[in-house]
Amino acid sequence: MSHAEDHEGTRRDFLYYATAGAGAVTVGAAVWPLVNQMNPSADVQALSSIRVDISGVSEGTQLTVKWLGKPVFIRHRTQDEIEQARSVDVSDLPDPIARNENIDGEAPATDQNRALDGEERWLVMMGVCTHLGCVPLGDGAGDFGGWFCPCHGSHYDAAGRIRRGPAPENLPVPVAAFDGEETIVLG
Ligand code: FES
Repeated sequence: MSHAEDHEGTRRDFLYYATAGAGAVTVGAAVWPLVNQMNPSADVQALSSIRVDISGVSEGTQLTVKWLGKPVFIRHRTQDEIEQARSVDVSDLPDPIARNENIDGEAPATDQNRALDGEERWLVMMGVCTHLGCVPLGDGAGDFGGWFCPCHGSHYDAAGRIRRGPAPENLPVPVAAFDGEETIVLG
């Protein structure tokens, strides 16, 4: 039985061919392709690097851009989200590793080690569930105030760390940095 048949009942899902060979996985519907396709400020400079204008991303909202064929979440966090994320004891996390390509690979998954450039308001991460590659729902979704993957029920917290469900790892933080105050460069 294919994944499509597995999820026949969930009509709001659509098929998403993640990568060649990975097969079809279902995606929480209609959440991410809408914003990024219309985003005039994400300017493709080179295949492996893009610049994203974040000046319009107000606190408590998130922008999803497409980079290297995958969604990237750029969230402007609220003070509440930051405090929630920083109050967690790393030793309680299912995946205690930061998964941040900008720092030492074995660094602990503190919120400080996942926020962009140590700037606590901004969180940038791949929008691809570490279980089977669905795109999690954002804006405080799930039981931990972060993201929720509806495919098999993975809950991520306000720092994108897996807290409950089948996903084995935190959402990965890609190579990213500020260029000035209003631009984030991915790659
Ligand atoms: S793909 Fe996200 S929980 Fe299975």
